[in-house]
Amino acid sequence: MSENLAFGIDIGGSGIKGAIVDLDTGQFATDRVRIPTPQPSTPEAVADTCRELIDQFDLPKDMPIGITFPAPVSRNIVLFIANLDESWKGVDVAELMERKLGRKVYAVNDADAAGYAEVVYGAAKGVDGLVIVTTLGTGIGSAMIYNGQLQPNTELGHLEIDGKDAEHRASSGVREKKGWTFEKWAKKLQKFYSHVEMLFTPDLFVVGGGVSKKHDKFLPLLDLNAPIVPAQLLNSAGIVGAAALAKKYCENCK
Ligand code: BGC
Repeated sequence: MSENLAFGIDIGGSGIKGAIVDLDTGQFATDRVRIPTPQPSTPEAVADTCRELIDQFDLPKDMPIGITFPAPVSRNIVLFIANLDESWKGVDVAELMERKLGRKVYAVNDADAAGYAEVVYGAAKGVDGLVIVTTLGTGIGSAMIYNGQLQPNTELGHLEIDGKDAEHRASSGVREKKGWTFEKWAKKLQKFYSHVEMLFTPDLFVVGGGVSKKHDKFLPLLDLNAPIVPAQLLNSAGIVGAAALAKKYCENCK
């Protein structure tokens, strides 16, 4: 096994998932473990579940650990939260996890982690200039990476489109709830991506989230100047990106 390892945890609204990642390849070095997200998903309950998760691995004390959150995270503080318990707002994740896990961790937004993984190992590998990765799920997450450098917490899912958050107009969750066809959904996506393209002129769009497995049903319907391609890492992107970022930035996470 490679020596270049780190642990990634991906916290989502329904599951908390983790695995050891081989950073030479961007592949899992162990099986992935998934535990349902506790309800209510309060900070204490979620941190206890993260503890339960890492207890299933025999992690060396100095292995970097990255954790994703479905929320913007700046200097370890959760700024606001749309898809987990509201009591997360203002929580210092590093302090909470150090208390519960007995280790330092690197905390990062879920889409930023997934986007970073796509740039290092996936669909945007080797692409120069501005890559915008969006994740289409319950919400819409975004990551902007310029020449390999992540600009965190872009939160493009909260851009206002016709008076509403884009993620309330065009997420995959909204499509499912309303029973829209892919053709109907593509019209909503077109508005969102055209607006983002007008603002930022990316060189490449990458589309992730579970629904990107069905990319052939909606990506060809979109008309943009930049190429728009499906993500490659799919379910593993959050864990892989969190692990890679932890290794890169987490000098004190030991
Ligand atoms: C959150 C983002 C997150 C996205 C996907 C949004 O509601 O504000 O931080 O990346 O959902 O989980």
